[in-house]
Amino acid sequence: MLDNQFPFPDSMLDILNLDSLETLARERLDPMLYDYIAGGSADEWTLGENRAAWSRLQLVPRMLRGVATRSLETTVLGTPVSFPVLVPPMAFHGLCHVDAEAATAKGTVAEGTIFCASTVSNCSLETIAEASGDGPRWFQLYVYRDRAITRDLVERAAAAGYSALCLTVDTPYGGHRERDKRNTLRMPAHLELGNFPRSHTDAHHHGGGSGSSLGAYIHAMWDPGLTWNDVEWLQSISSMPVVVKGVLAPDDAVLALDHGATAVIVSNHGGRQLDSAPAPITMLKAVVDAVDGRGEVYLDGGVRRGTDVMKALALGARAVLVGRPVLWGLTLDGADGVRAVLAHLRGELDLAMALSGCATVADVTRDLILEGRP
Ligand code: FNR
Ligand code: LAC
Repeated sequence: MLDNQFPFPDSMLDILNLDSLETLARERLDPMLYDYIAGGSADEWTLGENRAAWSRLQLVPRMLRGVATRSLETTVLGTPVSFPVLVPPMAFHGLCHVDAEAATAKGTVAEGTIFCASTVSNCSLETIAEASGDGPRWFQLYVYRDRAITRDLVERAAAAGYSALCLTVDTPYGGHRERDKRNTLRMPAHLELGNFPRSHTDAHHHGGGSGSSLGAYIHAMWDPGLTWNDVEWLQSISSMPVVVKGVLAPDDAVLALDHGATAVIVSNHGGRQLDSAPAPITMLKAVVDAVDGRGEVYLDGGVRRGTDVMKALALGARAVLVGRPVLWGLTLDGADGVRAVLAHLRGELDLAMALSGCATVADVTRDLILEGRP
């Protein structure tokens, strides 16, 4: 049980709130790379909606329940975590810090939770595993047209001690990212695709013509022909549980479980894929009801406040994932910056729970939510 942890934990980063970090990180980043991280697709309506949707839900706090000692601990897929917030897969942490994903893994493990490493990391998955020490780790998979590449990644992840495979299903092609097209996105020459031979890095750096080199790489390499049967295929080549990332429709969540997935992440990829897709929090309740306890349900997209985490838990998410703010923390202070972001969010969640009469995450129930605009 945590003692009262206010004021929020000290850190080298003086964090007012997670949004305030973006402004600071932006000053440190090349505008083209900042745009790649911050941006969404097309009109960025979904990107904005991922934040706006939280404000359509209100929390109705309960009083006099005795909240002097609290615990934010929970488990995901049976693994204990210090609070119900994980770090989602994001490409190219080398854009933010010289230690790249190794720093993110180190900072996340130090805060007692789980980092899911992206297929397109700058560090190799083995390096990330080493940086995670004894801590739990998940690996995110993009399925390559060349299935031998995919199989190799899965085998390496198992050998390196990853405990779950997170299959991203919302990216048959890269979204229409106008910022990246306008900027003719190219990755810095010194950054490698850590899981692949140099030829991938070269293609990734030089392809794209007048558009984004990442868009061209995805188009050339990732398999747009994936179907639900591939969720079963994945299980036939690995004993790791499969977490399907990127569903919004309740029926898709059910299909994922029908095809053997252990959990789903309700996500629109941070507003970077289909513009016009709803915010995940808008879909969460329907997904949770459709899943009906058959698997754990997680959510990401625009989680920036402790109250956002509470709202997702109240609507039935087991945990949430916080994306871009972790990259801002990484930019500003490496592994310590990642720690500071997670510690700050934990502090906000702890306070929000206390003010709502919740001493444990099990106390965060659906009746705390008042839906609809005031
Ligand atoms: C992502 N995301 C992502 N997802 C994934 O499955 N594999 C990946 O490689 C990436 N890469 C990636 C890069 C960058 C720069 C961003 C911002 C995002 C999506 C990510 O896992 C997550 O769904 C969103 O970032 C969550 O939204 P927020 O918290 O950033 O609003
Ligand atoms: C992105 C990909 C790599 O969102 O997932 O940029």
